[in-house]
Amino acid sequence: MKIAQYQASQAETVIELFANVFSDSEGADEGQVIARLVDDLITTTDSKDLIGFVATENEFVIGCIFFSRLVTANNANAFILSPVAINTENQGQGIGQKLILEGLSYLKATGVERVFSYGDPNYYNKVGFKQINDSIITAPFTLTYPEGWIAQTLNELEISKQDSVISCVDALNKQKYW
Ligand SMILES: CC(C)(COP(=O)(O)OP(=O)(O)OC[C@H]1O[C@@H](n2cnc3c(N)ncnc32)[C@H](O)[C@@H]1OP(=O)(O)O)[C@@H](O)C(=O)NCCC(=O)NCCS
Repeated sequence: MKIAQYQASQAETVIELFANVFSDSEGADEGQVIARLVDDLITTTDSKDLIGFVATENEFVIGCIFFSRLVTANNANAFILSPVAINTENQGQGIGQKLILEGLSYLKATGVERVFSYGDPNYYNKVGFKQINDSIITAPFTLTYPEGWIAQTLNELEISKQDSVISCVDALNKQKYW
């Protein structure tokens, strides 16, 4: 398996990956919602505010993750990891964790201080995320699933109230995603 940064030429392939993976796991409607989200992220986000990583096996795309910029109260260098998809047949082989860890290590090396996500803490705690309290470290929208509000620091400073998230990129700026 190879992991490399997402390239614009892969747009169609990764949108299809997200559509298929989420259709399989959560139904066709959710597949379309996430495919649309990824399309929006790719087409509307400034390149300095979006970074993706793609896992391939024999040139075939088997996983993809995106990180997009967040604005926090203390103006930390912060990103959110969302969404993540591993090809249905390749799940449970450690690919998701490898892809996320590689992405985090790249972000750390480029000076990113905070990474948030919104998902199942039982999975994301395997790659360093911890639950945070959205009444202290706020999210940009009301959370439907507050247990899923998670974050990790990439420097030595602990995450605090000052890291509250004020805004996200346009593609994620919709209550339905939160
Ligand atoms: C969730 C997902 C990204 C995990 O990637 P993966 O490569 O399959 O997972 P890994 O092989 O790295 O990790 C497997 C471990 O995570 C656990 N795990 C996998 N998916 C999980 C989930 N949704 N919730 C909790 N734990 C999960 C497995 O039980 C396994 O645990 P173990 O190591 O203790 O046995 C992938 O299965 C996927 O794309 N699922 C469908 C889409 C989705 O739910 N995306 C995440 C929300 S954006």
